[in-house]
Amino acid sequence: MALSDALDEQVWSSCRAHRNPPGAAPPNLGRDGLQEAAQCLAGLVRWAGPSHLRERRWDLVARTELFDAWLIGWPPGGTVDLHDHGRSSGVVLVLEGTLVETTPVRSHDGGLRLVRRVLGAGDSGLSFSAGHVHDVTNEGERHAVSLHVYGPPLTTMTFFDIAETVLRPRGTGWVGGETEAGPTIASRLQSGHQADAP
Ligand SMILES: [Fe+2]
Repeated sequence: MALSDALDEQVWSSCRAHRNPPGAAPPNLGRDGLQEAAQCLAGLVRWAGPSHLRERRWDLVARTELFDAWLIGWPPGGTVDLHDHGRSSGVVLVLEGTLVETTPVRSHDGGLRLVRRVLGAGDSGLSFSAGHVHDVTNEGERHAVSLHVYGPPLTTMTFFDIAETVLRPRGTGWVGGETEAGPTIASRLQSGHQADAP
């Protein structure tokens, strides 16, 4: 049994509040539901990758009709780029190390400024709605691990550049897909941009 399948079973048995009743339309978990699912998963999942990372790595650890969940390992200096999460809302919990979220915020003078927020293990983490744009970076000297839960499951990420006073979309990557070995990330390109980890 693939690790992800085993985790799915644990998720179902341990997080029954998030099971969708048979025949019901998939509900939106909402901010509280995603936070609850993330807290539940944080007690179940462990980073199984190397402890000395040279580049970011990620594992899809659960996928249901309501949400999906990813563990991401960050080497020192690891970063993403400004991006959104398509139609998905999300919760991010830092499990090891420290990460910094950078968020573009409109200034009173009409410009864009970047607001930083430091996230550490044990903090309440991030909670955001669809449309939230941010970057995440490991500015620490040791690796970090974070748990990301998205509802509905993550399907696209759009990446942005800051062009003077506006966020300019650079391209959209698609996230999803399964193989015989279990759920994996399958990415295809749009607008010449490679899909990245959430
Ligand atoms: Fe993100």
